[in-house]
Amino acid sequence: MLSKTVYAALNKHMNTELFSAYLYLNMSAAANEMGYKGSANWFNVQYQEEMVHFTKFYNYINSQGAQAIVDKMAKPASSFKSLLHFFEETLKHEQFITRCINDLTEQAVKEKDHATQIFLQWFVTEQIEEEENDREIIGKLKLIGDNGYGQLMLDNELGTRVFVPPAVI
Ligand code: FEO
Repeated sequence: MLSKTVYAALNKHMNTELFSAYLYLNMSAAANEMGYKGSANWFNVQYQEEMVHFTKFYNYINSQGAQAIVDKMAKPASSFKSLLHFFEETLKHEQFITRCINDLTEQAVKEKDHATQIFLQWFVTEQIEEEENDREIIGKLKLIGDNGYGQLMLDNELGTRVFVPPAVI
């Protein structure tokens, strides 16, 4: 059973994960339009991963006898200046998500909600990987600078990313 405050916080964050999915869907289309086909693929995979995150929250809330409710959301950004800009915005967004997960975990600890703490552990670990991936790409982009060939090579590399559906959500 979830307390009112933990339920409200989980439902709010579920909607933030859905916002993340929409943001990366916009990024994928924007990258495609700018000719970065590999990056468009990378962001499409990111979108699919965010839908998994959203569904994990949705299922968890419902499994606790509460009702997951999808809310209206802010309009995600759809215009980006460069490959570096895409990934700096991605890292910024993921750092925000990490802070949200940490706040949620603190709330669960405060209320001695062990089930929710265990549920959130997967996300704590996931955020380490998310931020690390973004920092790695940003590092490469900074090394490449304005070199068009370098950008093309990196874009090709980002095109190899594949979405691996989890066995259980
Ligand atoms: Fe679901 Fe990228 O955090």
